[in-house]
Amino acid sequence: FLLFSPDVPGDHSAVWASRKSDIISTVEFNHTGELLATGDKGGRVVIFQREQESKNQVHRRGEYNVYSTFQSHEPEFDYLKSLEIEEKINKIRWLPQQNAAYFLLSTNDKTVKLWKVSERDKRPEGYNLKDEEGRLRDPATITTLRVPVLRPMDLMVEATPRRVFANAHTYHINSISVNSDYETYMSADDLRINLWNFEITNQSFNIVDIKPANMEELTEVITAAEFHPHHCNTFVYSSSKGTIRLCDMRASALCDRHTKFFEEPEDPSNRSFFSEIISSISDVKFSHSGRYIMTRDYLTVKVWDLNMENRPIETYQRARIQDHLRNTLCYLIPDHGLNNRMLFNINNIKIVIMTGSYNNFFRMFDRNTKRDVTLEASRENSKPRAILKPRKVCVGGKRRKDEISVDSLDFSKKILHTAWHPSENIIAVAATNNLYIFQDKVN
Ligand SMILES: *[C@@H]1O[C@H](CO)[C@@H](O)[C@H](O)[C@H]1NC(C)=O
Ligand SMILES: *[C@@H]1O[C@H](CO)[C@@H](O)[C@H](O)[C@H]1NC(C)=O
Ligand SMILES: *[C@@H]1O[C@H](CO)[C@@H](O)[C@H](O)[C@H]1NC(C)=O
Repeated sequence: FLLFSPDVPGDHSAVWASRKSDIISTVEFNHTGELLATGDKGGRVVIFQREQESKNQVHRRGEYNVYSTFQSHEPEFDYLKSLEIEEKINKIRWLPQQNAAYFLLSTNDKTVKLWKVSERDKRPEGYNLKDEEGRLRDPATITTLRVPVLRPMDLMVEATPRRVFANAHTYHINSISVNSDYETYMSADDLRINLWNFEITNQSFNIVDIKPANMEELTEVITAAEFHPHHCNTFVYSSSKGTIRLCDMRASALCDRHTKFFEEPEDPSNRSFFSEIISSISDVKFSHSGRYIMTRDYLTVKVWDLNMENRPIETYQRARIQDHLRNTLCYLIPDHGLNNRMLFNINNIKIVIMTGSYNNFFRMFDRNTKRDVTLEASRENSKPRAILKPRKVCVGGKRRKDEISVDSLDFSKKILHTAWHPSENIIAVAATNNLYIFQDKVN
């Protein structure tokens, strides 16, 4: 992979410490990969568009440039609970394009918004009751009737909020997923999942509720949820206990009883104080075909077959330094929490899985050859168009020249969000406030 888009505006590496709001909190390509949206801690959405290919600018081919930036969410205050509601964008989901405009859903902890992003290159002129600046004219001075006309102007991209889906979540929203019927979507928080119709904002249906009557009995929370890519009645959700439930909305209105339950029994000899924390699933996704489910927990990425509930068919370790990580957990957990919701993605040919790690590393696993590689997203080590060098981490013993000692890894730099272009080997990797777009060199 090589670095693809060198100048990504919004890159403030020099001042990032003072601009916490620039930290990227989600990355999502649209269904054809021409648009890439990022959301950040400051509630902003930045949309990048891939440039059209042109013959005279051979090596500028297909770079992503900023297309539109808008403020999606503002900080709010919940007066009943005396809680501040952060503006941070937790998730973005594109809707398939149906007309000239683009639509996307963005969510913070409490409120989902549907945005319309459209282009305007003409503006009306020659109103009768107002002048060109929009000030009302004195009716006494109007003596003739004018016909307004549309005049060309510089292209403007406008983002307008079309729907606001609020007041349905008591806990923090962790996922939104658009259904394959494109009429409904769901939003999941720690304890409940709601189903919405895109047209109706004052009502949603609660389809999962795992809140115990007594909160002291709470043993698990919902961590992620996703609709099946083709069957609009089926969805999965994962939990902090490392389990995945598949639900069928045809079975009952409230899907508290799952249809399938995926869990790998734990080897008692491997039990440790951290077992429960490291088994918590941070992300769940269906494969494109809908036959497999992929999950990410603290140390592994697993692939499950829908027809086999008792164990995953493939397991990939997040790092070779896994054993070392187990030992450092005592240090990592208090310092950084395990709220490192490192997410993962799979490429278009469904054989390469990518996921983030510490020290601005990200890992790729080839499901066919079972090989893996660790790459780094950093300003220092990835010059535009230079090929990324695999990074190796050594644990103890002698360190070779090209290896990095585990003790020098920076655990505060972590890659939580990545995205894979739906049909080409182009990846977007968010490392704190920097967005890196890499392209496979054979392309
Ligand atoms: C993705 O965005 C591009 C805009 O450049 C658009 O042409 C395409 O239709 C979009 N794809 C979908 C499936 O919405
Ligand atoms: C939602 O709004 C619609 C139209 O304003 C209204 O007819 C409907 O009764 C409302 N539903 C609820 C549950 O408030
Ligand atoms: C238990 O630990 C051993 C050695 O670290 C490993 O090979 C095995 O896969 C682990 N078992 C499970 C169920 O994780």
